[in-house]
Amino acid sequence: MMRSGLLWLSERQGIFNFVKRNGLARKFASRFVAGESLDSAIDVARTLNSQGIGVSLDLLGESVSDRREAEGARDQVIEILDRIKSDLTGDTNVSIKLTQMGLDLGDDVAFANLRKVLEHAQEQGTFVRIDMEASEYTERTIELFRERVHPEFGNLCGVVIQSYLRRSAEDIERLIEIHARVRLCKGAYSEPASVAFQERAEVDRSYVSLGERLLQEGNYPAIATHDEKMVDATLAFVRKNNIAPKRFEFQMLYGVRRDLEEKLRKQGFNTRLYVPFGTQWYPYLMRRLAERPSNVMFMTMSVLKEAIAGR
Ligand code: FDA
Repeated sequence: MMRSGLLWLSERQGIFNFVKRNGLARKFASRFVAGESLDSAIDVARTLNSQGIGVSLDLLGESVSDRREAEGARDQVIEILDRIKSDLTGDTNVSIKLTQMGLDLGDDVAFANLRKVLEHAQEQGTFVRIDMEASEYTERTIELFRERVHPEFGNLCGVVIQSYLRRSAEDIERLIEIHARVRLCKGAYSEPASVAFQERAEVDRSYVSLGERLLQEGNYPAIATHDEKMVDATLAFVRKNNIAPKRFEFQMLYGVRRDLEEKLRKQGFNTRLYVPFGTQWYPYLMRRLAERPSNVMFMTMSVLKEAIAGR
């Protein structure tokens, strides 16, 4: 109930305008978002890289509604690639969303923008991950990836599978078939029972079995989770099957379970943090709150304290 309410709120721009004005809400957001500017994101990436942590930079923003906006987002991603090349020496790549590249305006628009990004990334040898969005985009994302992106750019670019979707077991096989690089996550959107498992236990079971397929037959899969049960299942599986730590990586979100990331890194596993930045942080923040309702209480208390102090 709380989760679906927060996910609903994540789509309300008017509420964002209100939240944005609140200093403590912004401060709370800064726990999950590496600032509003590219400079601040580069600083965070540099610090993480210096600790041996990989980074995937994500320019926040989704669902653009005209071509100029999509081209603007494309050019900003190209700028990120340039800054990675000029300012960083560690392992930093980028994550993007197809709706940000113009998917709502058509597959051709999104691919044209994505292609420019990938051509640029290719010159620099930087990997690009296409995030997975709500289920209305899943088929188009996987088709575009399989039919157009992967044949031209190979493993310079990877995609994401969400374990809450009923279709994911088949999608994983379609991606393993072409030796694609896949990030596995549980899924962050509000989806109906017709397309997604609703019970936590089902989502977790699906996660473990998809993860095992990727660890066995996938191409450098990314196990993206903060759930210790998923991490433990992964560790047990790789030990049992003698899968070397360097054949996959763990991924987590910036600001979540730093302790777990550190523990895995110290055990010799590759780890990467997904580091979002930019002015469009509200939907992202609301999805993070939906994942952990106790965060809502923390934020509400902070906002109340600020109001009482009359700031
Ligand atoms: P779960 O939600 O069960 O959380 C397990 C534990 O982790 C919690 O009990 C809590 O301790 C901690 N935790 C989780 N979220 C927290 C939070 N916000 N604050 C504090 N603690 C928290 N989704 C998607 O649909 N498309 C995508 O492309 C991506 N990409 C992506 C990349 C990376 C690197 C990660 C880690 C995740 C994504 N996701 C995503 C989000 C993903 O689908 C999912 O919503 C979150 O990772 C939460 O699921 P967990 O696997 O962490 O388990």
